[in-house]
Amino acid sequence: MSRIALVTGGSRGIGAAISTTLKDKGYTVAATYAGNDEAAAKFTEETGIKTYKWNVADYDASKAGIEQVEAELGPIEAVVANAGITRDAPFHKMTPDQWNEVIATNLTGVFNTIHPVWPGMRERKFGRVVVISSINGQKGQFAQVNYAATKAGDLGIVKSLAQEGARAGITANAICPGYIATDMVMAVPEKVRESIIAQIPAGRLGEPEEIARAVAFLVSDDAGFINGSTISANGAQFVV
Ligand code: CAA
Repeated sequence: MSRIALVTGGSRGIGAAISTTLKDKGYTVAATYAGNDEAAAKFTEETGIKTYKWNVADYDASKAGIEQVEAELGPIEAVVANAGITRDAPFHKMTPDQWNEVIATNLTGVFNTIHPVWPGMRERKFGRVVVISSINGQKGQFAQVNYAATKAGDLGIVKSLAQEGARAGITANAICPGYIATDMVMAVPEKVRESIIAQIPAGRLGEPEEIARAVAFLVSDDAGFINGSTISANGAQFVV
């Protein structure tokens, strides 16, 4: 029987590449999305991957959604907390709403995604947790006080979960993508984007599949001793 993987924000951008890569590796994938019905329907049609709609910022909705996935597909053995948003603004212009929305999705959303699957992983003595953080959680970023705070917080979640889950056969790791060719990065004004690319020694944006392949490795049996790690995938833009 194939393993079940849950990918939040799994129908677009990096998440879509993760979903399809895991499917190609033999996983049965459940991809969640928050609002874009059209993109989700197209994604299911093209890939055969089931999509589920809930807001990761809502604990009750996440829990109910995860129960539905497990009832339909089986116990979730790999969870990829990928859903994330930006509300960029220089700090002096950042509103409390911009702060709160990003915290709710990118930080609380990670708690809401992992917490409901964690007891089952502990009982079954196996689990794989991957959180998609960001280069900007490692280095900070102009106009991203909110986003950088959540992505740095995600690393704290993973490092703590790794210590709690290790004895129960659960690993928790983070990937920090650099600037990847997705809608999120394309939303950055072109001039700013060009100046960012100029700072990437690789001389290009990353491809979503380059993140997805790292996820596929981390959820595999081969990665059982890799726990609490942060993998940077940024074309050498920021070397830690
Ligand atoms: N470093 C230093 N100064 C910067 C800067 C930077 N990175 N970016 C912009 N500035 C400066 C501008 O030069 C400008 O200065 P002047 O006023 O002296 O000309 C000023 O900041 C811009 O101020 P504005 O009041 O005009 O800014 P704004 O309210 O219009 O906001 C912005 C513009 C939101 C900052 C826009 O430039 C932007 O989106 N920047 C990109 C931020 C970014 O990199 N986000 C990452 C998105 S991708 C992602 O998040 C995925 C991931 O994980 C990597």
